[in-house]
Amino acid sequence: MALPICLFLGLLLSSSCEAYKALVVFGMPSNSHFNLGNGVVRNLLKDGHEVTYVTPIEYKNPPPNLRQIDVSSNFNALPSDKINIKILMEAPTPSGHRKFVKMLMINLVRRTLEHENIQRLLNDTNEHFDVVIVEHMFSDLSAGYATIFNCPLIWVSPVEVNSLSMGLVDVLPNPAYTSDALSLYMPPFNFLERLEELWIRITDEYNDYMVYEPLEAAEYERLIVPQIQKRGRQAPPYSKVRYNASLVLGNSHVSIGLPLGLPQNYKSIGGYHIEEEVKPLPEDLEKIMMSAKNGVIYFSMGSNLKSKDWPEEIKRDLLKLFGELKQTVLWKFEEELPNVPKNVHILKWAPQPSILAHPKCVLFITHGGLLSTTETIHYGVPTIAIPVFGDQFINVKKAVTRGFALQVKLSYSLATDLKVAIQEMLHNPKYRQRVKELSYIYHDRPVKPGAELRHWVQHVVNTRGAPHLRSPALLVPLYQRLYLDLIALLLVILRVLYVLLRNLYRRIKSKKIVSNKKDKKN
Ligand SMILES: *[C@@H]1O[C@H](CO)[C@@H](O)[C@H](O)[C@H]1NC(C)=O
Ligand SMILES: *[C@@H]1O[C@H](CO)[C@@H](O)[C@H](O)[C@H]1NC(C)=O
Repeated sequence: MALPICLFLGLLLSSSCEAYKALVVFGMPSNSHFNLGNGVVRNLLKDGHEVTYVTPIEYKNPPPNLRQIDVSSNFNALPSDKINIKILMEAPTPSGHRKFVKMLMINLVRRTLEHENIQRLLNDTNEHFDVVIVEHMFSDLSAGYATIFNCPLIWVSPVEVNSLSMGLVDVLPNPAYTSDALSLYMPPFNFLERLEELWIRITDEYNDYMVYEPLEAAEYERLIVPQIQKRGRQAPPYSKVRYNASLVLGNSHVSIGLPLGLPQNYKSIGGYHIEEEVKPLPEDLEKIMMSAKNGVIYFSMGSNLKSKDWPEEIKRDLLKLFGELKQTVLWKFEEELPNVPKNVHILKWAPQPSILAHPKCVLFITHGGLLSTTETIHYGVPTIAIPVFGDQFINVKKAVTRGFALQVKLSYSLATDLKVAIQEMLHNPKYRQRVKELSYIYHDRPVKPGAELRHWVQHVVNTRGAPHLRSPALLVPLYQRLYLDLIALLLVILRVLYVLLRNLYRRIKSKKIVSNKKDKKN
């Protein structure tokens, strides 16, 4: 049924669009990553393709062309106490622990590969895919899925363009103006920031060489290579496999991040996770929002911080602060609270896009996650951001620099600081103007991000891996890129010249001495 429609559309658009089989792997046990994975899956299903989706959270009532592979046990792989709000409030370095994050993510990919359901999929030599699409979270080991099924690999980068994601399909960009995924700085860097970015890059490369690549290569030998051999092929070396992606689909856009020079096979399609049509609000919520005379403030700290972990005094202070406002406050919180003021509504579940899209929504108080930031620009709502971990700090820094957000620190004085920020936001129109400008830039693209995603995946399938898009820089070893061979050659030439000239000089000098002696004798 879907195929004829697809072919018909294909004829109409004069681009070939045969249904293909895609394996989509999003193993991160987190709602926001599930959201991004859904964005990919929903778009592929729309064109009638057959999708196998590896996910820790399953769709209810999946359509017939979607097969789901459950890896919900991945939820046990992340130490949940690390994302506890009390611990985060006292943690001095918000994004440090690079090695910790990296090892955690390698472990997660390994766990996913070892999962019984995945093993069953990999063991079946009749399985066949035309393309493998995998979320990239710090580990390259999942590149092995594409090697097993002998088909093109597409990475999905969930974060802003950064040195790590660019390094998958090109040489590492210059650390003097590109930050790393966990960086806290935004270019132009000052001297110390620039040094730190360089230092991070050098230590990361060193650790990759000494620790991560050997570790991942060992897992590749153990978990991937036997599957390739079972299919009667020889396994390529891991060092080749990890850099063999056809495409990176980046969750980024210039309206949100930086306009960096990207490789041809790096496509910034930030916003594809947002459905093009805004779903209507549930009736009661629509009523609440419509009757808000002074607008609505929407407060959500995302899905990773559990409400039950919030310190009592902060909850109490926040309720008091919200109660004093003229605006209606929608607070996404999974817990009943006592003595909730009249203008405050606690929502256990919040249809975030529909709330942000509502004309009454005047302010979004957020943790500054990239999906929330993208949605806020999509719908043009200014924000107050309380970053908590990971890339939220750099996202918020960018948002503040761009002038549509204020940052408030997560601390025991949260309510006091928030009050100042809310007053500034509500009384100064510049934040709203700025976010509307960025929203214009965000929407002003030749094609919508979902359509762009579908186009590029189809292109990779049709051209069997789009080798014509790959950066030639990947074929050039580091010593050649730095012209170390030329420098070595010049040093040799200089040395030879020096020796020649020195010998010549000595010979002339000794001749002179000899002739001087002769003169004296005469
Ligand atoms: C997959 O195959 C391996 C050996 O080839 C076997 O040890 C394992 O039990 C199989 N797992 C499943 C789930 O079929
Ligand atoms: C790289 O990917 C292409 C398909 O995109 C595949 O034909 C090739 O065998 C892969 N090479 C390695 C070393 O994995």
